[in-house]
Amino acid sequence: MSKPARELHIWAFLQGIGFYPGGWRHPLAQPRSVFDRAYYEDVARLAERGRFDAIVFGDQLQGRDAAGRTPERLAIPTLDPFTLLSAMGAVTERVGLVATVSTTYNAPMGVAERFASLDLASSGRAGWNIVTTAHPNAAPNFGERDLMEKGLRYRRAEEFVNVTTQLWDAVDDPARPIVRHKGEWFDVEGQLDTPYVPQGRPVLVQAGQSGDGRDFAARTAEAIFCPAATLEAGQAFRDDIRERVARAGRDPDGVKIMPGLAFVLADTEEAAQRKERELLEMADDGLCIEYLSESIGYDLTRHAASDLIPIDTIVAECEFPAEDIRRMLTPGVERGQTIADYCRGYARQPRGHAIFVGTAEQLADRMGHWIDEGGCDGFTLQPGFMPEELRLFVDHTVPLLQQRGLLRTDYEGTTLRNHLGLSTRR
Ligand SMILES: Cc1cc2nc3c(=O)[nH]c(=O)nc-3n(C[C@H](O)[C@H](O)[C@H](O)COP(=O)(O)O)c2cc1C
Repeated sequence: MSKPARELHIWAFLQGIGFYPGGWRHPLAQPRSVFDRAYYEDVARLAERGRFDAIVFGDQLQGRDAAGRTPERLAIPTLDPFTLLSAMGAVTERVGLVATVSTTYNAPMGVAERFASLDLASSGRAGWNIVTTAHPNAAPNFGERDLMEKGLRYRRAEEFVNVTTQLWDAVDDPARPIVRHKGEWFDVEGQLDTPYVPQGRPVLVQAGQSGDGRDFAARTAEAIFCPAATLEAGQAFRDDIRERVARAGRDPDGVKIMPGLAFVLADTEEAAQRKERELLEMADDGLCIEYLSESIGYDLTRHAASDLIPIDTIVAECEFPAEDIRRMLTPGVERGQTIADYCRGYARQPRGHAIFVGTAEQLADRMGHWIDEGGCDGFTLQPGFMPEELRLFVDHTVPLLQQRGLLRTDYEGTTLRNHLGLSTRR
């Protein structure tokens, strides 16, 4: 295992009102603020004060389906990341701006233009989290009955990124200003109407964990957002990716591994645990059941909360591949869990990310330990609820990380590439 540089990268992953589905009910949460520009501006300034490498927004294309229609669910909207990041970039000068964009439901020219524009407007701070969209309910929103099979989605993603990077590169290349590409998915002849792209290429980030996803990342990505619930899982993922990157003929140090890390902070460990318990209790059974319903695109509220998990009906009726749904739900079925029990567990750890509950000092210890043990190159931080937990992190954990020499006390460069220690392409 190769040790990462003792230099921590931190991203703020902003999903609605925070990590816990019931967090919007916390007295210090500001659930309505997610529709308020001033909120995003404050959060951007906070992230910059905490010397974050970047702010990251996911993007969901499936809309609000199944049971996800109640006012509570409005606490977790996914607004357009470019619009939010433009507002956030306008009130900051250094923090990077990473937007998630699907290669399954877009076209390269439009995406190349949006990122070139974000990079220009922010003087070199744009990054693209390349996803292929896994939720089958996205398909009908784009005139398709079914979601494309995963192998095909990744083939399309590869060509998509190839065309997009050609378009960015051509801006700088007087010898070949026009891109002419004819491939399996795209037929493009054209050029961007842009004088230059500050970073040459905005930073390429990837999120996807299957073999296909990892190989795609190994060939393409400069940073990876992944789940890793334990240090061992982080080490195994990082080792595996570094091997794949080397096999793809690239430098493993040129790909930063950034697993998710959700956190709840307080002055003492007991107080943090109490706060987490409260946050979990704020998501009552109904909310937890809606939360899973939305994730799997199947309305579990049709059944009694005390019913056993109706796995065969779910597999038959929901659009996700049967094997994925069975893999997810079978442990709950084998434990004889009711729908409510399973959904409560799911709401605590929905996507396999690590969760930290404790003091600022313990969190700094944990982050340093993961770096020292080769578990990651940094963290995609997911505050328990917003904006309180992010503020606690910036005020209390950041100074400790800085004292320990793990985190910059000031930005050295101006671009996201620079913050991440990635090579510049121009
Ligand atoms: C940590 C993580 C974050 C993701 N974020 C998004 C997202 O915001 N929007 C989206 O459409 N897909 C997102 N995805 C889905 C991936 O693009 C991909 O379609 C999915 O993970 C299935 O591929 P896989 O089996 O290779 O992981 C995310 C995946 C991971 C692992």
